[in-house]
Amino acid sequence: MSNIHLFYQSYSFEKIIQKGGEGKVSAWRHLVNKNMWVAVKEPRKDSRVLRNQLMKEAKNLHTIGNHPNIVQFYGYDNSHPNPPTLFFEMASLGDLPKYKVSLMRARQLNAVPEATLWKLVADMVKALHWMHNGHSVPYVHGDIKPSNILAVSPPGTNPSDIPLLPTFKLCDFTHMVPYREDGPGTPFYGTPEYAPPHVERRHVNTPIDIYGLGATLQEVALDVLPVLSNIKFRDYWRMMNKTPPSLRELNNDDHRWRWDIPVIYRPLNIPLKQQIQWDVPNPRATYSDELNEWYTRLLHHSLDKRFSAAVLHQYFIPVADVQIRLLVAKFECSQAAKELSLSRTAWKVRREGKDSGCEDGSEEYDSPSTMTPREVLFTKFT
Ligand SMILES: Nc1ncnc2c1ncn2[C@@H]1O[C@H](COP(=O)(O)OP(=O)(O)O)[C@@H](O)[C@H]1O
Ligand SMILES: [Mg+2]
Repeated sequence: MSNIHLFYQSYSFEKIIQKGGEGKVSAWRHLVNKNMWVAVKEPRKDSRVLRNQLMKEAKNLHTIGNHPNIVQFYGYDNSHPNPPTLFFEMASLGDLPKYKVSLMRARQLNAVPEATLWKLVADMVKALHWMHNGHSVPYVHGDIKPSNILAVSPPGTNPSDIPLLPTFKLCDFTHMVPYREDGPGTPFYGTPEYAPPHVERRHVNTPIDIYGLGATLQEVALDVLPVLSNIKFRDYWRMMNKTPPSLRELNNDDHRWRWDIPVIYRPLNIPLKQQIQWDVPNPRATYSDELNEWYTRLLHHSLDKRFSAAVLHQYFIPVADVQIRLLVAKFECSQAAKELSLSRTAWKVRREGKDSGCEDGSEEYDSPSTMTPREVLFTKFT
């Protein structure tokens, strides 16, 4: 970074956003223009290994270049005692888990709307297509998961709004590697809860990113870690004639068993009651068959059946564009209907309070509010 002193003169440290696996990420704010923020990533602690990893990430970001669905990298600086320091655009809505909580809270939902899920997959397909097919060799991200996906408000959005369709951007390029068929091969060293089947872990290739995207979609949609639950894992281990670990061992955060517990497929389109059988502890929503069909192709064990980023880019993106428009219209319509029925109830309660003297108990008025929300909306639009 050429003008590092200017940066430290014009921005001040605000808060630590996250201490992740490798880095400590903090938010810095412009001293004059309070709307300008920069995210700064440094090694989490003083360690040569972490310094090398962050330096590798800076090089990877430089190699991969700019893309609308990849976090914008401004540059790095090596002048601090524990270098490097990496500078990024600030994701206003945080990472995917944080955005999900804010969205559900702001709109009083108990599950992520389907339109948001299509948008998430569409944005990630664009980022992965760029990584896998936009350079002279394919690059594997190697660690696709919710906390490595950021959400940014689209331009023109009110900063206090939590949009249904943010721009999702891929971040954390510490695990990125080029894929060369005849090369020595890089073993998978991403996060076990989103890891591909064991046969793919010895020499990582681009399909592992698609698998990670499928696992991510499952987690966001069903609110469950996309792996076998501890209890089911013990049954599965016994079935393989092996001695299972105790539940206590499995509850340790960083236990070695994490690498043995497989990612599993859980359908997104089945009724809530049936989701318990699929090991979903807290069923929240049922999504469409269409979304489930694509999701099945992300999480397929067979490489012939798992779609590549190129295929998804060609066929999924146009379908997603249409689905998103349709689902947003449906979502807004149902929100409006909800609001209308609430205000109708409030109006009725007020009226009943006023008219408590009405003798025969009959509805003595035929106001617009006796129409169903659908009728009212329809009238409004025509
Ligand atoms: N540009 C950014 N804007 C906002 N938050 C960010 C940004 N980059 C990272 N974060 C937050 O910091 C966390 C850790 O960053 P990441 O690059 O994934 O580092 P690590 O290698 O430590 O996992 C992310 O999960 C996200 O919550
Ligand atoms: Mg990370």
